[in-house]
Amino acid sequence: MSEAASKARHVAIIMDGNGRWAKKRHLPRAVGHQRGVEAVRSVSRAARAMGLEALTLYAFSTENWRRPEDEVSALMGLLKHFIQSDLEEFVRDNVRLKIIGEWRMLAPDIVALIDNALERTAANTGPALVVALNYGSQDEIARAAAKAAAKGAVSVESIEAELDTAGLPPLDLLIRTSGEVRLSNFLLWQAAYAEMMFVDTLWPDFTPAHLEEALKDFAGRERRYGGR
Ligand code: FPP
Repeated sequence: MSEAASKARHVAIIMDGNGRWAKKRHLPRAVGHQRGVEAVRSVSRAARAMGLEALTLYAFSTENWRRPEDEVSALMGLLKHFIQSDLEEFVRDNVRLKIIGEWRMLAPDIVALIDNALERTAANTGPALVVALNYGSQDEIARAAAKAAAKGAVSVESIEAELDTAGLPPLDLLIRTSGEVRLSNFLLWQAAYAEMMFVDTLWPDFTPAHLEEALKDFAGRERRYGGR
């Protein structure tokens, strides 16, 4: 079975290259992350305007705890600020906010902010903005398999139903910025039939025009799902 060109519904992005963006300008890495948040804002607004049903962003992995303490705390600070400053926009624009990963293990003040943001947007029915926080795909799959087993049936479908991404459209396109070509423990299950794009642009330089170009490229690809 092959499927002709179609419009992407769900795009995920590994936002890589903030550190290199800053280094090139002799700026602290935290400034690169700050500019990364600005890219999050413009690209996620554009994704909604372009009609995507879901955008999933890799903001903090289970491995990111290994970074120096000041960088981790800068990232957490940016995250807090982002939730606080953009929540009203999500409420107003009918954005369905979803967090994947073990976010309940983050600091209590962040957990409280997220809980409040989820509650305030719970009735929204529009495009989903999915943020992966303290996320690792192997951990997600193991948790889902354990839940499926506890309910008595381990199958592709029963595991899938327990993944953090349950309820979202299937992943169509996975983009990684900054020229690195690996998945880094992101959406391993969901990427089974996703198209992949690895672009050289560093994340802070990634604009709505880059997303538009990626969606055009996607629409021209023929998807085979293992068939011919
Ligand atoms: C990779 O750049 C990026 C990250 C580890 C974090 C991504 C986070 C953001 C864009 C900001 C926070 C997000 C939200 C949703 C508020 P890197 O530091 O690995 O770059 P490098 O490989 O060039 O060093």
